[in-house]
Amino acid sequence: MHKKQISKAVINRLPRYYRYLGDLLEKDVVRISSKELSDKMKVTASQIRQDLNNFGGFGQQGYGYNVEYLHTEIGKILGLDKKYNIIIIGAGNLGQALANYVDFERRGFYVKAIFDINPRLVGLSIRGIEIKNIDELKEYITMNQVDIAALTVPKAKAPQLAADLAKWGIKGIWNFAPTDLHLAEDIIVENVHLAESLMKLSYKLSEKNKANDK
Ligand code: NAI
Repeated sequence: MHKKQISKAVINRLPRYYRYLGDLLEKDVVRISSKELSDKMKVTASQIRQDLNNFGGFGQQGYGYNVEYLHTEIGKILGLDKKYNIIIIGAGNLGQALANYVDFERRGFYVKAIFDINPRLVGLSIRGIEIKNIDELKEYITMNQVDIAALTVPKAKAPQLAADLAKWGIKGIWNFAPTDLHLAEDIIVENVHLAESLMKLSYKLSEKNKANDK
């Protein structure tokens, strides 16, 4: 059977569903209707039904959704039923903040090593995770299972490092450097650009101010 292509927009909404369902689970909520979920999430109930129908209709007529089942199934779709080993390249402000954030582990993402070029940082540990010399990167990748590399180095250094990571077999790059990476198609790059999010906020604020000035 031809597998239905799930739109990017739907995939983009799944982490939010997952988060809300996780909150409900923590509150021991067993089931929820699309109407209740829609009130909570400020998404229309029909949007929720449509989104979730993409994956084979989790809901039951008159019952709503079983929170735990839906949470587990969305987790599977997002690949959260697996464990991922992460390395962080660049142990500066951002790299250290990521390494210090324990909640990623709850979701199955484990920071295993951090690499930096600065001899003053090499040998230090963050939350028990050692900062290694960048010269050891290739060997580390060859000897260990690494699923994702977070890139938190200066923009100018990111493209070369990304190319090396790809060459040495890394398939997932979580890129924080404010630059586009051009890599082979089988390398998955997820960009996180806080500045772009801030620009969207400033756009919305200025639109609002314009409306108020009228
Ligand atoms: P930082 O200067 O504190 O840290 C950068 C680290 O990378 C330093 O420790 C440096 O020694 C290391 N480094 C430089 N070249 C390297 C190499 N070839 N191999 C390994 N390590 C190397 O900078 P910060 O504030 O942590 O920012 C890091 C990156 O993240 C920058 O590109 C910055 O523009 C970006 N950034 C992105 C944000 C986002 O929303 N995506 C938010 C803040 C920063």
